[in-house]
Amino acid sequence: MPVCCPTKLFMKQDRILIIGAGGQIGAVLTEALREVHQPDNVIATDLRDLGEQEGPTDVLDALDGAALEALVKKWRINQIYHLAAILSANGEKNPLWAWDINMRSLFNVLEISRQRQLSKVYYPSSIAVFGREASHFNTPQYEVLIPETVYGISKVAGENWANYYYRRYGVDVRSIRYPGIIGYQSMPGGGTTDYAVDIYHYAVQNKPYECFLSAHTRLPMLYMPDAIRGTLELMEAPSNRLSVRTSYNLAGMSFTPEEVTASIRKEVPAFKITHKPDFRQAIADSWPASIDDSAARNDWGWKPEFDLDAMTRDMLFHLAAKYQVENVRAPMQ
Ligand code: NAD
Ligand code: SER
Repeated sequence: MPVCCPTKLFMKQDRILIIGAGGQIGAVLTEALREVHQPDNVIATDLRDLGEQEGPTDVLDALDGAALEALVKKWRINQIYHLAAILSANGEKNPLWAWDINMRSLFNVLEISRQRQLSKVYYPSSIAVFGREASHFNTPQYEVLIPETVYGISKVAGENWANYYYRRYGVDVRSIRYPGIIGYQSMPGGGTTDYAVDIYHYAVQNKPYECFLSAHTRLPMLYMPDAIRGTLELMEAPSNRLSVRTSYNLAGMSFTPEEVTASIRKEVPAFKITHKPDFRQAIADSWPASIDDSAARNDWGWKPEFDLDAMTRDMLFHLAAKYQVENVRAPMQ
């Protein structure tokens, strides 16, 4: 018998449940969390079967509180990343349905976290919390919140419930207001910023793209690697450094369809785009053009790494491999 054992043998492993792991962000975040916490400690769930993965998966409807509780017990979960939601454009097609899913799933997560005293919860919010009354450029952390979509209304309510559970019950809920997220690994799920992913898929295949926003619509955006790193950094930050318990503004870059087209043409000169704005134009017009993220920078050291051209090179390089296109060069590091 050893006299004493190394402390790390007794250290508690985090067991993480991801809800909405099959989505645009969830698919990439699951892999990142598995790298940090070991695959077996990260349980990926979604409405649909996620198929064979490196770690455990399960089917979970986040509206089913009993099923959520059973999974939390079964896997001895102590952290939840709640990513399931109906996004801005899809939500406008059926507002009461979107409200029901976004809010009821959040209440199930907050309640199980309170009852079982989970150590941390992650709940993303969005730039959709802002509306036309907010400052359009460099929108501050603390700003009037009058969103024009049901998605935005649900995120404002969700942020406030997160804050309430933190202050009233001590549930350590952490949140980021993501801008439009752009990545090559997964497809977006029905938002207003989806064009900024689609456009790269068309460009790399030498297909013309019809954009559903006008050429001059400026929106805040963030490249997936920065979004994932920012999420992990927030979740690792000491609790006493976090002054914002609603949701942190986060910025990466800010561009228009015209500017991303110009960036793509540096790599794919023949790329063609036309514009045919639809109902998503009004949503985009109600959102900020750029975001002030100084609270995230000051509290937990947030700093994005990718600008528009660096993202374009990386997106095109990876999508060229996916579509087996040969004329796109590797990005300069
Ligand atoms: P997504 O639409 O791509 O994925 C959402 C996932 O949730 C889907 O796989 C869907 O099957 C699942 N889902 C839906 N209803 C469910 C339910 N009842 N139970 C279990 N799973 C359910 O969304 P995303 O882009 O990955 O976004 C993830 C989170 O980040 C959302 O909360 C979203 O509001 C937020 N967000 C995303 C962006 C972005 O640009 N992608 C920007 C701001 C905020
Ligand atoms: N990208 C998201 C959307 O467009 C913003 O939350 O809905």
